[in-house]
Amino acid sequence: MDEKWTERDIPDQKGRVAVVTGANTGLGFEAARALAENGASVVLAVRDVEKGKRAAARIAGDTVVQELDLTSLESIRAAAAELHGPHSKIDVLINNAGVGTLLEEDWTMHISYTTEPAHPNHATAIYWRADLI
Ligand SMILES: NC(=O)c1ccc[n+]([C@@H]2O[C@H](COP(=O)([O-])OP(=O)(O)OC[C@H]3O[C@@H](n4cnc5c(N)ncnc54)[C@H](OP(=O)(O)O)[C@@H]3O)[C@@H](O)[C@H]2O)c1
Repeated sequence: MDEKWTERDIPDQKGRVAVVTGANTGLGFEAARALAENGASVVLAVRDVEKGKRAAARIAGDTVVQELDLTSLESIRAAAAELHGPHSKIDVLINNAGVGTLLEEDWTMHISYTTEPAHPNHATAIYWRADLI
C-alpha cells in the first residue's frame, strides 16, 4: 500500500448520522466537514453554539448544531436527550473535543481533566452509547 489514504477515499456516508464533539474548529471541524460533504447528517456538538453555527455555515451538507459542554454532566445528559428526538441511532461518534494546544500554565488542569474518573469523553460515550450506538 504505497498511496496515502485521504478524505477522497471516504465512502458514501448518505443515510448515516455522525456526531462530532468540538466540531467548531481544528480536527473536529475538518472531520465534520469531510463527513457532511460525503453525505452524512452531522451533529456539531459544541460548547459555544454561536461558534458552532459559524462553523456549520462553512460546511456544505446536512449539519445541525447542538450544545454540549463536556465539563458538565448536566450538559451531557441534556445533549443525549436532545439527540434521541430526531435520531434513532448514531453511526459515527467522534469524541474529538479536548485540549489541542497546551500552554504551560494549563498543564495541571489538563492532567486533572484527563485523569478524573468521570472523564468527560467517557461520560459522553456512556450516555450516548446506552441507547443510540
Ligand atoms: N492537534 C494535534 O496535533 C493533536 C494531537 C494529539 C491529540 N489531539 C487531540 O485532538 C483533539 C482536537 O485537537 P485540535 O488540535 O483540533 O484542538 P482545538 O483546535 O483546540 O479544538 C478543540 C475543540 O474542543 C472543544 N472543547 C474543548 N473543551 C471542551 C469542552 N469542555 N466541551 C466541549 N467542547 C470542548 C473546543 O471548543 P472551543 O472552540 O469552544 O474552545 C474545540 O472545538 C483534542 O482532543 C486533542 O487533545 C490533537
